[in-house]
Amino acid sequence: MGNISCCSFISYFSCYTAVKLGKIKMIVGSTKENLSLEKRVSLTPETAKNIIGLGLQVILEKNYATHLGILDQEYENSGVKIKNTSNEVISSCNLLLKVNCPSQEDISSLKEKTIIVGMMNPSKNKNELIEINKKKVDIFSLETLPRITRAQSMDVLSSQSNLAGYRAVVDCVAEFEKAVPMMMTAAGTVPAAKVLVIGAGVAGLQAIATAKRLGAIVSATDVRAASKEQVESLGGRFLTVDQSDDMETAGGYAKEATTEYKKKQADMMRDALKKNDIVICTALIPGKPAPRILSEELVKLMKPGSIIYDLAAEHGGNSAFSEPGNINVIEGIKIIGVKSLMNRLPLTASSLYAKNLFSFIRNLYSREKKVFNINLEDEIINKTLFKN
Ligand code: NAI
Repeated sequence: MGNISCCSFISYFSCYTAVKLGKIKMIVGSTKENLSLEKRVSLTPETAKNIIGLGLQVILEKNYATHLGILDQEYENSGVKIKNTSNEVISSCNLLLKVNCPSQEDISSLKEKTIIVGMMNPSKNKNELIEINKKKVDIFSLETLPRITRAQSMDVLSSQSNLAGYRAVVDCVAEFEKAVPMMMTAAGTVPAAKVLVIGAGVAGLQAIATAKRLGAIVSATDVRAASKEQVESLGGRFLTVDQSDDMETAGGYAKEATTEYKKKQADMMRDALKKNDIVICTALIPGKPAPRILSEELVKLMKPGSIIYDLAAEHGGNSAFSEPGNINVIEGIKIIGVKSLMNRLPLTASSLYAKNLFSFIRNLYSREKKVFNINLEDEIINKTLFKN
């Protein structure tokens, strides 16, 4: 912690001095991600223009977003300067925007006092982040933002989870070999598909809304009692598991379920799984493996042709037989383990992510002093700053 405060101070001091001495504009840069793993970008022409509007300069690596159909010229039209290599960007910017943790090559090009902002996944990339910190580089990881009103426009978990909930339904419908809405035709009536959403947070609520729009009969469950009203307001039926304990933390997240709760939830699921065609799993507990809600026995209760779509697969999975990036078929039931879902709608995901980053920069940058002001008394800045 002491180390970080010192690092932050150094960044602040050096930026401040540079500006005082030379009236130099602070530079925001971004480089390409590893395209085989990540298609999102951190800056769009629109947000680059907004950042320049704050009085900053923006530089980008050549062909930054051509894979998304956004040409360098569009960025240049917004006032961005294009550099030939990632090294040129990293070695000249004061603040580097990334989607994911920088590669080893990028880390080696980082100069002291740079600031990095992105989705650094601190629990997974702790060693890399410690290595970066040793270079006196401050790292802000937006997954750790406090869920407060002032931070909503920067909330990357919400912007990306919302899209995940939508895309989950679209993917399920594409895999499902029946129609979703009820149809009364001359040839007979097609019944509406039944969708069960497990976990009614940001992704779950969007999945409910999307499935309802497509005409499915939707039900949902969550450990947090507060989610009942939200599910019902979207037209879903809430499946309650009787409980005496409050299962919600002060921060609004779920607590880990007790053994007794898990047993009651499994009993409730037994009946629900026999009736539903599609199950969308979204349950997560921050900092812990995803809760295992559907055991092998429960999965096999579904009818052949049913689908389990596990958005939690990369965190260990809510369902048995779920593997990230694979579709496993067990007794005719497809268990879809989701991996890198945002790569299936990278343009929208980038557009929202870039806006989240812009809001974060607007809060971090002092237009008056013309520096990035790492004010640890600001809850948003303090909670997102990586501390080893
Ligand atoms: P999340 O992604 O951590 O978890 C997804 C959902 O799974 C949560 O609703 C959680 O209660 C549920 N869950 C966990 N274990 C479960 C289990 N064993 N069985 C069934 N469900 C289980 O949550 P997310 O989407 O990040 O939302 C967390 C909270 O934060 C929610 O209350 C949400 O409304 C709130 N929020 C507040 C914001 C703000 O700015 N005030 C912004 C975004 C979300």
